[in-house]
Parts: sequence; structure tokens; C-alpha cells
Amino acid sequence: MGFDTIIKNGTVVTATDTYRADVAIADGKIAAIGADLESSGVGQSSAKIFDGAGKLVLPGGIDVHTHLDMPFGGTTSADDFETGTRAASFGGTTTLIDFAIQYKGQRLRQAFDTWMSKAASKAVCDYAFHCIMTDVSSGQLSEMNDLVHDGVTSFKLFMAYPGLFMLDDASILKALQTTSKNGGLICMHAENGSAIDVIVQQALAQGKKAPKYHALTRPTTAEAEATARAIALAEMAGAPIYIVHLSCNDALEKVREARDRGLPVYAETCPQYLYLSIENFDAPGFEGAKYVFTPPLREKWHQEKLWNGLKRDHLQVVSTDHCPFCFKEQKELGRDDFTKIPNGGPGVEHRMSLIYSGGVAGGRFSANRFVELVSTTPAKLFGLYPRKGTIGVGSDADLVIFNPGRKHTISAATHHMRVDYSMFEGIQVTGMPDVVMSRGKILVEGDKFLGNAGQGEFLRRATYAPVNG
Ligand code: URP
Ligand code: ZN
Ligand code: ZN
Repeated sequence: MGFDTIIKNGTVVTATDTYRADVAIADGKIAAIGADLESSGVGQSSAKIFDGAGKLVLPGGIDVHTHLDMPFGGTTSADDFETGTRAASFGGTTTLIDFAIQYKGQRLRQAFDTWMSKAASKAVCDYAFHCIMTDVSSGQLSEMNDLVHDGVTSFKLFMAYPGLFMLDDASILKALQTTSKNGGLICMHAENGSAIDVIVQQALAQGKKAPKYHALTRPTTAEAEATARAIALAEMAGAPIYIVHLSCNDALEKVREARDRGLPVYAETCPQYLYLSIENFDAPGFEGAKYVFTPPLREKWHQEKLWNGLKRDHLQVVSTDHCPFCFKEQKELGRDDFTKIPNGGPGVEHRMSLIYSGGVAGGRFSANRFVELVSTTPAKLFGLYPRKGTIGVGSDADLVIFNPGRKHTISAATHHMRVDYSMFEGIQVTGMPDVVMSRGKILVEGDKFLGNAGQGEFLRRATYAPVNG
């Protein structure tokens, strides 16, 4: 067999192994892994050769939580499927799972069709969808089975945002009962929206309208209470549950307790909760609006608890919740009232480097655990494994040649996301991708982008597979 590409002499890192080997690619798949593949007689002289010496060869990152081209808060998130997937590629992420929103009264199929039309001609890397359900009636419950059949095998429900996305416990229980039968996975935004709404209205009545009040009106107890309630509802339904964007120790404790009892409960956190804190709201003027997302930033001491949760497998995934809004014109919508600031922050580009830097270079966990958190477990939980999430013969050649010693200072001046600020401005990371491939095609080489809009494929996902720590 002839190879199209060979990465020579790299250190292959999977969730379980670290070893020196060549990795050869043919027809977009990993075709061989072994010693000296170029001269072993199975290579061919026309194969493109990359020198992996001193580099890590990683499976492409999988970010299971992005909001591209999403209408929200009277505007639309600033990255579309072209700019968002391009920025992801620069950071070594080669698969995104975005959220298709079913608005009230709509069929779930309508959400799927709408988001397919946003993505299909634009995505530069592969993508899939979760379906956000805002309306759970009997028709939609049975339609969940159709979506699972079509490869949309996870559903996000909200316990927050009353009047917009929030569902009551009865609806949540019914949806969980449905996934317990059809193999889907419920992803839960766990915050007590009714309680938060009371606190928000009281703050507004007292004239507290600056960005920091977004954080101060959403206590950690509201996240912990909803996390515990979501877990209880999932236990009643006999269903697994995945808690999204977990931000604080109080909620982490609820997940840890449930997992200690052997329940199929999983949770992700995001780089912003590991690197930023409520102190970011001390930024001058209206700058705090850059950090308005939900759940909000917490006191600094939560950060180390979350890192420890990643290390100890109390948290299983790092996603970004990438939901960018420009500071000028979009965040500005809430200059006089924090409730009008579109919620969300940009992050899809730097997840891999931030987690490698803080996790592996920072001595908190191994490179294998890093791969597990950013690629392998996301693939397993969301029905993409082993096509994605690992380096093995037959898997898609979504590969990153990662330079573990390369340093980079994050800045809006150099990032590729279509947004006018960085949440991580000035933070220096250690570890950057040198080359990024999607199904064997080079997306990024150094600072050059070599991909094309529309080359990304929709991934029909299998149903959830349990992941044991
Ligand atoms: O502030 C956020 N997280 N915006 C995106 C919507 C969500 O709840 O994930
Ligand atoms: Zn959410
Ligand atoms: Zn989100």
C-alpha cells in the first residue's frame, strides 16, 4: 500500500500510551504505525514526510461545546462555521460538536436542518450537533428517537434562562426517560434559573447594573442545587447525564458524590473557569463585559479544585463553550444593564494549549490524561470513538504534530477567532500545534492555513458509550 503522508520519529500520545513511532496516512485514515515506515518498503517516494522528532503526535482535539452562528441576546455569535472551525484548527481541534436550537413550537428536525445549512458549505473540519430542546411535548419526545437514528445522539436542556430556554423538572424527567431508552445523552445546563431571576430583579431594582453583577447574581449554590437536581432526575429515569460548563467546587462535589455512588454522571469544565476568576471584573470601565458568560466566573480558589477534578477524573472533559461576541457593538448592547450583555466568550482556539500548558507542562497530570480530556473521552461519550479520539490503524487521520516546548502569548492581535478581544489576553502558554490534519488533509502548517471552507463533514454519531475512570 502507498502512503500519502508519513509523520516520522514522533512521540505518539494516546489516552493510554506514549511511544516513539512513525505514523502513516493513506486515503484520510491512519494506515500504519511502526518503525521506519518510509524505508520499510510499504511507503512510497511521493509520500509527504513530516519530521516529528521532539514533537508529540496527538489525536485531533474534539470540542463538544461550541455555539457558532448562534442567535442569542438580540445578536448572533461572531464566528460562523468557517471562521470558528478555522480558529479551532489553528489550535489543534479537528472536530466540533455544536448546538442546533429547537425554538418553542418547532420540530427537532427543523433545528437540525437549520444548523446543517449553516455548517455544510462552511466548516473546514468535521462537525456534529447536539440538539437544544426548549419545548418538550409528546411529539418532540418521540422525535428524539428519529434524531438519535440520524446521528444527533445528545440533547442539551436548560435549568436556567426562564422564558427562553428553561424547562421544568417534569419536562426534564420525560426527556431523560426517553434517552434512557434510546441511548442518547442529556447535556444539562445546571443553574437554578428561577432563583437566579429573583436575585437579578432585586439587583436591578437596587441600580446594580454593571457587568460584575452578572456574576454576583448567579451564586455557586444555584449551580450546585441544579446539578444535584439534574443528577437526581437522571437517577430516577435510569439515564446517564452530562453536566456542561461546570464552574465551581460546589457543583463539582455533587458530581463527585454521584460518581462515587457509581452513577453514570459526567461533567465538563472549560478553560475560562481554570484560568480566570471574578477578579477579571475589576477591569476598567465596561471591560468586565468581556467576561460575561454563564455560569459566571467564580472566586479564584475554585480554579485549583477544578484542575484537581480533572486530574482525579471527577471531571472527564474540557470543552470551551465558545460563544463569541465582539466587545464593540455586541457586548455594548448591555452597557447600561448587565442582563442585556450577550452571554458568552471566545475560546475555541486555545483549549488544547491552555490545558496542555496548565495540565502537563504545569505538572498537574500526564500527557495521556490531557489526550483523554480533550479528545478520547469526548469521542467515547459522544459516539465518535474509535473513528475520532485516538491514534490507531483505521481511525481518521485527524492528527496534531504538537510542539511541547513552543511558547506563545495569547492575544487578540494574533488569534484567528472573529472577535475583537481575547479572554486570555497576555497569558503565555507552553505547547502549541505545529501541524494540524483533518482526515489526512493539512489544515494548518506553522502559521499557514491550508484548508478549505466546506471540506468538513457532518458526523453521524453513535449513541453514548459509558466511560469508566
Ligand atoms: O454564556 C454562555 N455560556 N453562552 C452560551 C449558552 C450556554 O448556556 O452555553
Ligand atoms: Zn449552557
Ligand atoms: Zn454553551
